[in-house]
Amino acid sequence: MSTQFPEVRPRRLRKSSALRTIFQEVEFDLNDLVLPIFVEEGVSDFGVIASMPGVLRIPESKLAGEIERYARAGIRAVMTFGISHHKDLVGSDTWNEAGLVARMARICKDAAPDMVVMSDTCFCEHTSHGHCGVLHEHTVDNDATLINIGKQAVIAARAGADIIAPSAAMDGQVQAIRGALDDAKLGDTFIMSYSTKFASALYGPFREAGGSTLEGDRKTYQMNPMNRREAVRESLLDQDEGADCLMVKPAGAYLDIIRDIREASRLPLAAYQVSGEYAMIKFAAAAGAIDEQRASRETVGAIKRAGADLIFTYFAMDFARDGI
Ligand code: PBG
Ligand code: ZN
Repeated sequence: MSTQFPEVRPRRLRKSSALRTIFQEVEFDLNDLVLPIFVEEGVSDFGVIASMPGVLRIPESKLAGEIERYARAGIRAVMTFGISHHKDLVGSDTWNEAGLVARMARICKDAAPDMVVMSDTCFCEHTSHGHCGVLHEHTVDNDATLINIGKQAVIAARAGADIIAPSAAMDGQVQAIRGALDDAKLGDTFIMSYSTKFASALYGPFREAGGSTLEGDRKTYQMNPMNRREAVRESLLDQDEGADCLMVKPAGAYLDIIRDIREASRLPLAAYQVSGEYAMIKFAAAAGAIDEQRASRETVGAIKRAGADLIFTYFAMDFARDGI
């Protein structure tokens, strides 16, 4: 017969703060985090994002100073999102070597050469209609978008981006980018695919942050949030196409998916605590309903526990400032 209560008492593990600390199974630190940033061209002041309290749009002219500040605070990696004033039907500014995507990478690497600079590789911030690629009738033309995404990746990599992070949710995007980079003799450039990306309501505040013009939704290219089997399949396809790292997005409501992919692949795995996850904590804390510091630590820690090696979070600078 196995031993059980009253001899077995798990509360012994929790009796003191010291015991709780030494028996803690998972922890995270700044080395596990990526700070996503919004950079706006053609403006001179920081911009408030009402739905993301504490996050500001950075004017391009102040980007270098901000990156230096993040580096001094201990941030290791940033992901750049551009707020474009040069939108067109296809997002051609993204493959212009003098365009915003290229300039952001150049400015970040010049300001802090050791900062890992990830370039979000998509079109929705740069198209007049706000979709993640070339619009054909009412849907995004997958294969036409692949040609453009390869061009964007080459431009970003040449400008210094360490990691190309395609978020367009097009089939074959990793293969297209790998091919384009290799043809351009950029075989060393790393691809972190947003490999399992759900069509989530939790991107709401990001759309305000990025000045999105989208009408409708992205359900013909991003995944149905109810699909677990397909979520694993999507990431494994990107692994086969040559991704160097996989990603699950959003994170907090998809911990089962993070665990599934962690067990199905040996690649490093990232997870993205998205704008809506951040906003839910911020607004609940502002209303006095929850403690912000504890809630941010708990949610990011839980994403690590689920199996993510790297976590994208808008709380990264708060952790750098206040400790973890
Ligand atoms: C666009 C993109 C989105 C996010 C990152 N890249 C939004 C979307 O797919 O509509 C979301 C990030 C966030 O909500 O924090 N390709
Ligand atoms: Zn997009």
